[in-house]
Amino acid sequence: MSNIIAIGTQWGDEGKGKIIDFLAEDADIIARYQGGNNAGHTVIIGDEEFILHLVPSGILRPKKECIIGNGVVIDPKALLDEIQMLHAKNVDVGPHNLHVSKSANVIMPYHKLTDRLKEEETIGRIGTTRRGIGPAYLDKAGRVGIRMVDLLSETQLAWKLKRNLKELNLILEKIYGEKGVSYEQLMREYLEYGKKLRDYLKDTVSLLNSYISQKKNILFEGAQGTMLDVDHGTYPFVTSSNTTAGGACTGTGIGPTKIDSVIGVMKAYTTRVGEGPFPTEIKDGLADKLRNAGPIGEYGRSTGRPRRCGWLDMVVVRRSVLVNGLDSLAMTRLDILDDLDKIYICNKYKYKDTYIEDFPEELEILQNCEPVYEEAKGWNTPTAEIKEFKKLPPKALEYITRIEELSGVCVTILSVGPKRSQTIKKN
Ligand code: GDP
Ligand code: IMO
Ligand code: MG
Repeated sequence: MSNIIAIGTQWGDEGKGKIIDFLAEDADIIARYQGGNNAGHTVIIGDEEFILHLVPSGILRPKKECIIGNGVVIDPKALLDEIQMLHAKNVDVGPHNLHVSKSANVIMPYHKLTDRLKEEETIGRIGTTRRGIGPAYLDKAGRVGIRMVDLLSETQLAWKLKRNLKELNLILEKIYGEKGVSYEQLMREYLEYGKKLRDYLKDTVSLLNSYISQKKNILFEGAQGTMLDVDHGTYPFVTSSNTTAGGACTGTGIGPTKIDSVIGVMKAYTTRVGEGPFPTEIKDGLADKLRNAGPIGEYGRSTGRPRRCGWLDMVVVRRSVLVNGLDSLAMTRLDILDDLDKIYICNKYKYKDTYIEDFPEELEILQNCEPVYEEAKGWNTPTAEIKEFKKLPPKALEYITRIEELSGVCVTILSVGPKRSQTIKKN
């Protein structure tokens, strides 16, 4: 192991939580670098299911340290609730093994409120998680964000909050006809969160760089997926952070020279939650079949919404290989395809009279193109108990090989079920 970034190659929910937990065995430090509690990362240990939203998935392995980097947006109440949930399940988590950046921006209740109002009343639906993610990053980029460290200083918090509420309350009252937000109540509540989280807040830039100097192994845990990246995704139907590998550097304060490799987590097919283009979406009953196959169905881990399902889209995966500099792929949920007679892989799009192999940046094309498929034969054999690549049904191996050819990247990890033991490593 060395310093590795693991990212989602599609629209999120690729099984990053499971793969991070698997890779974390060989890591010393696991760091989140972007997003917030819009993420929902599932890890199953024995019979117990954990859904992590903010705390890195590595926390479930004893003796590892976790970092929530400066690029993450933090809802302090959600973080405290998650720590409490972990304590209730006897997971060791405290300031000794969870370090939270002082510079991370805070999600305030008014971010959640404006997230909802923009969705419902003005901008229109992106289908956000309504966790206040977009408005929090908007304030960060607009230089009016509140940082975690501000929760430790009454004077800093008072200055920033008063300044922000002056504008915000005008917007709420005059544009949305809503009641303004109370300064006193927010001050009381957020200073209290500061007291509770004080010991977790650190200079994580110095800490992480000192661990790198000590040659410790760092695993960077991406949230969401490449197609939800604010620069590289299906804009504007994206989240508001850089979910791609570059985000790991800016989101934790380490230099790109410290990264050794990048692994892309890719579902054996594709899903998406929320609005936005999805060229390979399946619109008939087969989508329900995929959604409900296997031990855990395709329903959002943060919001419970049914996930849209479709075939594997190699135009998307190839873009992901490019923008993340992927060295390898971890393919998940292969078992979900076990009892299909035919499986389809999209390798290009048809738009009007032209074929497109490189991911198009025009929303117009993404919304109106037709996927061009090649057919793969199903293997009609259960894979969930298989422990070695060479024991896979030949047709499943053919499917994987074809994806390697079309992406130019090797599948080095294969997941055939949600449990730790259902993970196959290529030697
Ligand atoms: P993440 O957001 O990328 O961490 O993914 P989610 O946790 O939101 O969704 C992935 C779902 O697939 C979770 O319910 C996992 O437990 C489950 N999962 C992961 N890998 C596999 C696999 O290989 N097979 C099956 N059947 N389920 C898997
Ligand atoms: P993980 O880390 C799947 C989607 C939302 C919406 C869009 C913007 O579990 O893969 P936001 O609340 O971020 O402003 O919503 O992004 N989205 C996700 N979809 N997995 C996620 O996280 C997601 N986080 C956000 O559904 O379409
Ligand atoms: Mg998820």
